[in-house]
Amino acid sequence: MSELVVLGLCKAFGATEVLAGIDLSVPSGSLAAVLGPSGCGKTTLLRIVAGFERPDGGSVELAGRTVAGPSVDVPPEKRRIGIVPQEGALFPHLSVGRNVGYGLRRGAGGGRQRSGRVEEVLDMVGLTGYADRMPHELSGGQQQRVAVARALAPRPALILLDEPFSALDTGLRAEVRADVRAALRADGATAVLVTHDQEEALSTADLVAVMRAGRMVQAATPRALYLLPADLGVASFVGDTVLLDGTLSGRRAVTALGSLAVREPVPAGSAVRVVVRPEQLVLTADGHGDGVPARVREQIFFGHDALVHLELRDGAVVTARSLDAAWAQAGLDVRVAVRGEVSCFPGPAADERP
Ligand SMILES: Nc1ncnc2c1ncn2[C@@H]1O[C@H](COP(=O)(O)OP(=O)(O)OP(=O)(O)O)[C@@H](O)[C@H]1O
Ligand SMILES: [Mg+2]
Repeated sequence: MSELVVLGLCKAFGATEVLAGIDLSVPSGSLAAVLGPSGCGKTTLLRIVAGFERPDGGSVELAGRTVAGPSVDVPPEKRRIGIVPQEGALFPHLSVGRNVGYGLRRGAGGGRQRSGRVEEVLDMVGLTGYADRMPHELSGGQQQRVAVARALAPRPALILLDEPFSALDTGLRAEVRADVRAALRADGATAVLVTHDQEEALSTADLVAVMRAGRMVQAATPRALYLLPADLGVASFVGDTVLLDGTLSGRRAVTALGSLAVREPVPAGSAVRVVVRPEQLVLTADGHGDGVPARVREQIFFGHDALVHLELRDGAVVTARSLDAAWAQAGLDVRVAVRGEVSCFPGPAADERP
């Protein structure tokens, strides 16, 4: 069952159309990422789902109940939604335990049950024993963990996270988001994570919905999105690309990198744009391997891998990502081959060509 169903959501601020018919369906117990560039309408979408903003058209359904629609507007506090904002979410004058327990109702079950749940969610986010600390005694990463624990505590129908890790530095960010993902899983929560970071979306979510200029362009699993992007824009937004012109012949495309196997669906027509991922390019020392001749222009070392810029015979430059390219120094003649299948998109129409 889908916990959240958004249908045809529209919203304009004055003359500016921000959401132009958004559909999004998030299955119960899963984590969906809404991925899109700055200003595409992600926060506006979350605010409408949470009930802080009214849509001009369309509807929002939560756990089978319409909470926003043409004649329905359930107030935010009645929607059973937990929210984790970007930063600064905690009450500075309340301890960690009281921050986390804030949304838990008094009465039913009594204080012991409440503190049991506070301890339980603090355990889930890796902060066992922190209940008596004050927010200013925590690091930025720990504060975000507390914010997630507070959102989880009342067992809401849905948790909305609006770029909650963007203030953290890279290493800490990966660690906190992995722990938060595990906590959401352990609690069986349904969640929507808004981000403009493709790596964060691909590595964290069960489902990634790509938004562009107020529209959903594609919603798919991370793997499907990376391997089968709906268009060139999605292809380059979710990862690095090597873009080539090609001519289709059956299931193969003839390009400057040779004749490449094309992944389904194969587009109609013969002129295509071909997307190769840099990690699909395999380098060998000249004379020893398959592939087309190229010369190394530059190598950029990142520790875990390196990018190697290569100039092909026709002057085109392509970039390979390699785990083991210490030998491929600038000026060296090499061969470059493509491993695996590539994605193709219709090429420029004949009348659009210069
Ligand atoms: N209350 C408002 N009044 C007028 N315009 C608004 C309002 N809220 C948002 N906008 C505009 O709507 C557009 C989308 O804003 P939104 O905050 O939803 O984008 P976003 O995708 O969350 O961007 P970011 O990644 O930078 O947070 C922007 O052009 C913004 O200026
Ligand atoms: Mg935003």
